[in-house]
Amino acid sequence: MSERSNDSKQGFSVTQRWLHWIAAMLVLTLLPVGFWMVDRAEANIWDGLTGTLYASHKAFGFLVLWLVAWRLILRAINTAPEYPASVSQPIRKLAKITQWLIYALLLVIPLLGWAGVTAFGALNIFLGLSLPAMPGISPDKEFAKELFAIHGWLAVALCALLFLHIAGALKHRLIDRDGVFDHMSLGSKNE
Ligand code: HEM
Repeated sequence: MSERSNDSKQGFSVTQRWLHWIAAMLVLTLLPVGFWMVDRAEANIWDGLTGTLYASHKAFGFLVLWLVAWRLILRAINTAPEYPASVSQPIRKLAKITQWLIYALLLVIPLLGWAGVTAFGALNIFLGLSLPAMPGISPDKEFAKELFAIHGWLAVALCALLFLHIAGALKHRLIDRDGVFDHMSLGSKNE
């Protein structure tokens, strides 16, 4: 997977496209797994399945944090592709605001989760491995619960933004067919 600077008209680089789709698959799994494991915890079901859901949520959520950090670095280095003239100014603004809010939440949500498990003392994942503790966070279960509550609310806000983002992408792909979807697709002719 070689990195190259992208032509601003054609689309994002190959690395940016793969990072987008890998992070998208992970986030779309982390959201239902997160709600499901919390439901089970609230119902006091502490079996192997609940443990596996928590462990994989923490491990893959932590991975998303670094994938998104990498994406943001590439986004800062490379020029973003331009929208075709047919895309109106208000829609461009809405798309940009949505995308930047998604980037922000994809940093803040995992950071809160990581801070929460550090404060709660629940850094263990699987195979006897543990996540590193977040620097500067001391053990405090009450503080951890507050962090988890904000983590959960922001995850709900992320669901709404992702709905808007996916609806927009599908409109470009299926109705407008204006090449905007190909900026991010894998194996498109623009790649
Ligand atoms: C983009 C990444 C992430 C997303 C989208 C996400 C999403 C969610 C969602 C939807 C919930 C359920 C909230 C609720 O029903 O109250 C949840 C809970 C939780 N998440 Fe995440 N999460 C992410 C990253 C992380 C990370 C990196 C960690 C820790 C290393 C983590 C640890 C937890 C824990 C421990 C809970 C349960 C909190 C509780 O029991 O109250 N999450 N997450």
